[in-house]
Amino acid sequence: MKLRKTTVAALALAGLAGLGLAGPASAAGQDWNPDAKLVIDGMAMTTKAPAPANIPGLKTIYSGWLFRDPTTQTMEEDDFSNPGMTAVDEGDKLWNTVDGTAGKSCASCHNGIESMKGVRATMPKVNKAGQLWSMEDYINDCRTNRMGAKAWGWKDNKMVVMTAAISVQSRGMPVNVKTDGAAKPFWEEGEKLYYTRFGSLQLSCANCHEDHFGDHIRGDHLSQGQINGFPTYRLSAARLVSTQERFYGCIRDTRAESFQPGSPELHALELYVASRGNGLSVEGVAVRP
Ligand code: HEC
Ligand code: HEC
Repeated sequence: MKLRKTTVAALALAGLAGLGLAGPASAAGQDWNPDAKLVIDGMAMTTKAPAPANIPGLKTIYSGWLFRDPTTQTMEEDDFSNPGMTAVDEGDKLWNTVDGTAGKSCASCHNGIESMKGVRATMPKVNKAGQLWSMEDYINDCRTNRMGAKAWGWKDNKMVVMTAAISVQSRGMPVNVKTDGAAKPFWEEGEKLYYTRFGSLQLSCANCHEDHFGDHIRGDHLSQGQINGFPTYRLSAARLVSTQERFYGCIRDTRAESFQPGSPELHALELYVASRGNGLSVEGVAVRP
C-alpha cells in the first residue's frame, strides 16, 4: 500500500532537510547522464528501462551506476580495475573446495560455476516449501543438508564472495524476479515496507530513492536504490557488501533500529526492490563509493 505522497512530503521534508538535501540536480544543471552506456569487458548492460507495470511510482528505472562519479564508473567497466573481481576469484576457488562430512565441494554436484548462469537474475524466489529464499539461503541449504558443512553467516566473507562469484555468471541478463503466484504475499509485504517511514527521521525508502533520485544528500548522489549490481564493492568499506547489509545500513541511517540481514522483513524487501529493477541487467559486482 502506497502512502499518499502529499501526507508524507510534509513530514519527510523536515527529515530530508536535516540531512542536507540539496535541490533537484536539474536546477543546478543536470549532473548525471541517464543515457550513459555501461559496457563491461565488451558486454553492453541495460542501465535504463521502462518501469515494470506494478511499480507506479517510477516511469523509468535506472541502474545505480548512472549516478556515480566518472572515476567510480570507469572502475566497473573493466574487470582488471574492479576491486570486487578479486572476491569473485576467491568465490571461484571456494566453489571447488571440499568442505564438510560428505567430502563434497559445490562442483561435486553442480559442476562448473557457469552452471549457475541465470540464477542471480531470479533471486530471491519462493522455494519448494513455499518460503521466500535468497541466494544465501540456497547456499546454506546445500552446505548444511547436502555437504554436512556449517552454515555461513550472511556477512561472512565466504558467503559474500560466493554470492559474488555466482552473480557474475548472470552478468548482462535481465533481472526477472517473480512477483505473482506464491511470491505475491511476500512482494506485497516488501512493498508495504518500502513505503513505511522509519526512525526518528520518519523516512521511507521511497522518500529518498523514489521521490529524490538524482538529488544530492550529505554529499552523496541519490540513486533509485536498485540492487541489480549486488553484491557491490564499496570503496569506503574496502569490501563487498550484500543487498541485505545495504538495506540494514539505509534503515539504520534513518536513526531506526534496523532489521537484521536474513530476517523475514529484509527478505520481503529484497524481493520487492529486486522487482523494481526487473529489466535492468545483472551487473554484479558493481563498484560504489
Ligand atoms: C550434494 C549435491 C550438492 C552440493 C554439494 C551442492 N549443491 Fe547446491 N543444489 C543442489 C540441489 C539438488 C539443488 C536444487 C535444490 C532445489 O531446487 O530445491 C541445489 C541448488 C542450489 C542453488 C539454487 C539454484 C537455483 O537454480 O535455484 C544454489 C545457488 C546452490 N545450490 C549453490 C550451491 C553452492 C554454493 C554449493 C557449495 C557451497 C552447493 N550448492 C553445493 C545440490 C548440491
Ligand atoms: C535518507 C535517505 C535514504 C533512505 C530513507 C534510504 N536510503 Fe538507500 N541510500 C541512500 C543513499 C544516500 C545511498 C547512496 C547513494 C545511492 O546509491 O543512492 C543509498 C544507497 C542505497 C542502495 C545502493 C544502490 C546502489 O546502486 O549501490 C540501495 C540498494 C538502497 N539504498 C536501498 C534502500 C532501501 C531498500 C531503503 C528503505 C529500507 C533505503 N535505501 C532508504 C539514502 C537513503
